[in-house]
Amino acid sequence: MILAPSILSADFLHLGDALQACDEAGADWFQIDVMDGHFVPNISMGPLIVEACRRATERTLDVHLMISNPDAYLEVFKRAGADSLTVHIETTTHIHRTLGVIRELGCQVGVALNPGTPLTAIEQVLDLVDMVLIMTVNPGFSGQAFIPEMVGKIRKLRRMLDDRGLESHIQVDGGISPRTAPLAAEAGANVFVAASAIFQHPEGIPAGLRELREAVT
Ligand code: DX5
Repeated sequence: MILAPSILSADFLHLGDALQACDEAGADWFQIDVMDGHFVPNISMGPLIVEACRRATERTLDVHLMISNPDAYLEVFKRAGADSLTVHIETTTHIHRTLGVIRELGCQVGVALNPGTPLTAIEQVLDLVDMVLIMTVNPGFSGQAFIPEMVGKIRKLRRMLDDRGLESHIQVDGGISPRTAPLAAEAGANVFVAASAIFQHPEGIPAGLRELREAVT
């Protein structure tokens, strides 16, 4: 089980401290949510933040691109220090080519689906990815409620992967908490992204990570 704090809810004035607290509390990866105000109705961060995080941690930097025309930025994010690049199937016409470019750059290859996008959209490229991200909210903001209908989608994806003998990660993102994470885990997810459950936990980051870890193990 991989826990990936999403820095979207971190205190940006003290981002280095937040990363260090997560590192010390046993976070596995960090997710960096890149939003362009076009594909999603919010603008967040870009390569400069990835580059700053790269200087602060050796953990996997998992960059979730919620941007139109991701192809134009893959190399930029790789150069900034991304270890993993996830693109949305809804943002690219030539997904086969896009995933190939990510592979050639030497990054882990991820593809993401919005809640309304069916699994059939990625069926033809399943064997090209290391990770499928099932969005459990409509992307754009942290602090939204987990969409329970996504549990069936996770289960179906796990079956599709098993049928093909693929061991790709299933990542979930959005409304992940100690209450919802076990539902996703039971359905077959193994990478858990959480922003508010970790960074807004009333007792602090270590308590947020600990409770999430306990919920999925
Ligand atoms: C949603 C982002 C998420 C978000 C999750 O658009 O991709 O990573 O930060 O936030 P929580 O965990 O608060 O739902």
